Amino acid sequence: MAKGIEQDFLNELKAKNPIEDVISSYLHVIRRGNTLWACCPFHHEKTPSFAINVLDQYYHCFGCGASGNVITFVKEYESVQFMEAVRILAERAGVVLPDISYDDKAIAAKKQHHDRLLQVLRETARFYWQNLNSDRATTFTNYILEREIPSSIVRKFGLGASLNFDALPKYLMEKGFTAFEMLDSGVVGKNDRGILYDFLAERLIYPIINSLGDVIAFSGRLLEKKPNFAKYKNTRDTVIFNKSKSLYNINQVRKLKKEQAIPYIILVEGYMDVIALAKVGYSNCVASMGTSLTKEQAKLLKRYTETIYVAYDGDFAGQVAAERSIQILKDEYLNVLIVPLPNGQDPDDMIKTLGKSYFDEALQNVLPYIDFKIMMLAKRYNLTKVDDRRKFIEKALAIIKLEKSATVREELLKNLQKQTGASLESLQSDLENTVVDEREKIEINTTKTIQSTEKNKIMLAEQFILVAYLFHHKYTQNYDISKLTFENDIHKKIAAYIYEKQKNGQEIYPSSLFDIFPENTVEINLLFEEKNMQVFDEDSVKYFQDCVTSILKANNEKKRIALVNESMTCVESARKMAILKEIQQLTEEYKNF
Ligand code: UTP
Ligand code: MN
Repeated sequence: MAKGIEQDFLNELKAKNPIEDVISSYLHVIRRGNTLWACCPFHHEKTPSFAINVLDQYYHCFGCGASGNVITFVKEYESVQFMEAVRILAERAGVVLPDISYDDKAIAAKKQHHDRLLQVLRETARFYWQNLNSDRATTFTNYILEREIPSSIVRKFGLGASLNFDALPKYLMEKGFTAFEMLDSGVVGKNDRGILYDFLAERLIYPIINSLGDVIAFSGRLLEKKPNFAKYKNTRDTVIFNKSKSLYNINQVRKLKKEQAIPYIILVEGYMDVIALAKVGYSNCVASMGTSLTKEQAKLLKRYTETIYVAYDGDFAGQVAAERSIQILKDEYLNVLIVPLPNGQDPDDMIKTLGKSYFDEALQNVLPYIDFKIMMLAKRYNLTKVDDRRKFIEKALAIIKLEKSATVREELLKNLQKQTGASLESLQSDLENTVVDEREKIEINTTKTIQSTEKNKIMLAEQFILVAYLFHHKYTQNYDISKLTFENDIHKKIAAYIYEKQKNGQEIYPSSLFDIFPENTVEINLLFEEKNMQVFDEDSVKYFQDCVTSILKANNEKKRIALVNESMTCVESARKMAILKEIQQLTEEYKNF
């Protein structure tokens, strides 16, 4: 516990923030008997094992073991420091925070470092902004003119420009920031020769701001295409910025929410789409950070609204990523409607070519996803032709067949009747005989499992590493497997077995694993897949290295999280200092991966 705050105040804060109220504002909570349950937000699951104990005001997840009180919950859920969590809860309950005296050195140091990083980010935003507004940025100002962004919007979003590689680190140094602080904030990188450089050099800059109004990261766009360079690049994840938990423009959404209820939020793909929509008066709009939507982002959205209008590029229908985003939103019990946009146009393109009124109209015509899919399908056929019409009906029925609700199915059939002139009876009977495309079904089902991509990534990395050790030892013999901590229990045991053999200079016989593990152990079967025994080429060697790095990173992160948690509850100051030092070491190590 932070010593800086009086225990009395924390008790009051907890009393005014009943854990069940707070948690149900984040999660869908159901009652079973005397206990409240939810799907655990700290690990991936489909059936609730996260229990809320109202009497004793704590939560515990039977799936992953996470537990804590209302403050821990907010801290973990929002990925914020203890004090931030206190601030959020105080605001929620309308209580005034007392003056805090940081008499605890470790916490004070941590908080101070955090604040310094925020200052680096703020200064950097100012620096980029000044560049853009100087007379040295004509290519950038011309670009902004060409994209028709008015200066009021440039100001509102704090857009900026990076003119070269070295001015930013120099500027920050003059402002008194250390190299460590610059690097830790993500705005600066270090090259092979140890020279600091602007991580987003020569790009148009979009600051990324969190809901509290702090600049937490930047994205930079190249003005012109350059081969081998990404069009957009973000500053990396840091202690302050977690890409998968952030949404572009959430700061404006929060501002809006303070003034009025938000009936829906428009979800777009690009930063420029958010800006174009702001230009024509919509600030209820967010973009994910260049990746497909995450569960955390869906949860964040849920704090502000219940309905999401998805306004992705018009030809996105078949894209798995779009479908996955929609599924993730639905999993969080958000209403999802699709904004029909012309093919190949994002909201920015549409507003630029057709004007605001067309976008307004598209908003009037939002559709549920299944209706949208059928509409897109219809566009591929000429329904005045018999042959086309039949094909369309067949394909449309295959989509309708996937719908679970009978009422919705009936409604969809009625629409199909209107569209094609076929009778309802024949459509109904054809629907009964329609065989669902198994691939479609699988695609829809897998969207759920693909979600926990991080976890998945680690599993795949573990698998590949073990495959390399088992079937391609030539490439792995010089690497000590005991340096890696595996997440999966079976993987852990296999690694221990490999380590034993390696240590004693013995040969590894993959098939002996069948003697150690029960028949049909999924993990073992996956390792023995045909493809794993094929040639191990140069790419495999590279991939092996990447996998090792991913695991080391995950191990490091896990250790750091455990230490940070320990530091929060540790009262003995010598131990606390030791923890802090260890955290610092781990952070250093992490940067060198
Ligand atoms: P788009 O390529 O569709 O760009 O990427 P855009 O948003 O329309 O941008 P403009 O209009 O050309 O300026 C959509 C989003 O995907 C992410 C960014 O978040 C971008 O806004 N992205 C794209 C990246 O993260 N990296 C890239 O290299 C490209
Ligand atoms: Mn665009």
